[in-house]
Formats: sequence, C-alpha cells, structure tokens
Amino acid sequence: MAKEFPPYERHVFICMNERESGHPRGDCKSKGAEGVLLRFKELVAQKKLKPRIRAQKSGCLDTCELGVSVVVYPEAVWYKQVSPADVDEIVESHLVNGVPVERLRAFPTTPGDSAKLSPIGNA
Ligand code: FES
Repeated sequence: MAKEFPPYERHVFICMNERESGHPRGDCKSKGAEGVLLRFKELVAQKKLKPRIRAQKSGCLDTCELGVSVVVYPEAVWYKQVSPADVDEIVESHLVNGVPVERLRAFPTTPGDSAKLSPIGNA
C-alpha cells in the first residue's frame, strides 16, 4: 500500500558534512553535529513524533560558516550554531508548536512565515 503524501508534517535536516582539518570553510561534524543529530532523533522517538516528524542527517547545506546548520521544512527555517542543548527548544517550540526559535535563526523571518507555521496535528 502506498504511503499518503506528504509523509511528514515537518522534515529536519542536520548537516553532518566532514572536511579535512584546516579547510577554510570548516564543517558541521567537527562543530558537534553528531550530538545535535542524536538529540533530535532521541526526542522525536521519546515524544512519539514519528511519522509526523522526521529528523535526518544531510550533506553540506552550504552554510558551513554558520554550522552546525539545521533546516526545517516545509517552512524552510534555517538554524545556525545549533548545539545539543538547543535541540529540546527547537523540537518543542518549532516542530511541535510551530513557533521557530528566533535566537537561533540563520536568516530573518520572511513575510510568508506566519502563514506557513502551525502546530502539528494532534499536538
Ligand atoms: S559543512 Fe555543514 S553546511 Fe557545509
């Protein structure tokens, strides 16, 4: 039986790219991306958010200087310098309740944001 689409209400990508040491752009893995990814996965499981929310690793998101870089779709909200300690707030505020964490945003709010943001179903 085919899955219904869209399969996820929110889809989180955490950059896990790794570069050779000394590379001028740096990389998210050396800045702690693995801990960020693990905390997202842990909370999604603990809060029983599957399959409405999926958090997964990605390759380079091309915002390396802002890493650890995370992006949440469908709103396309980008987060910068995310640490494992920030993940609980992103999950509860943004992923569950539809309110992005402003202090961690990499780019300013866009005019269409509020129309796209809402709590997930049955939150
Ligand atoms: S290395 Fe993470 S955005 Fe490029």
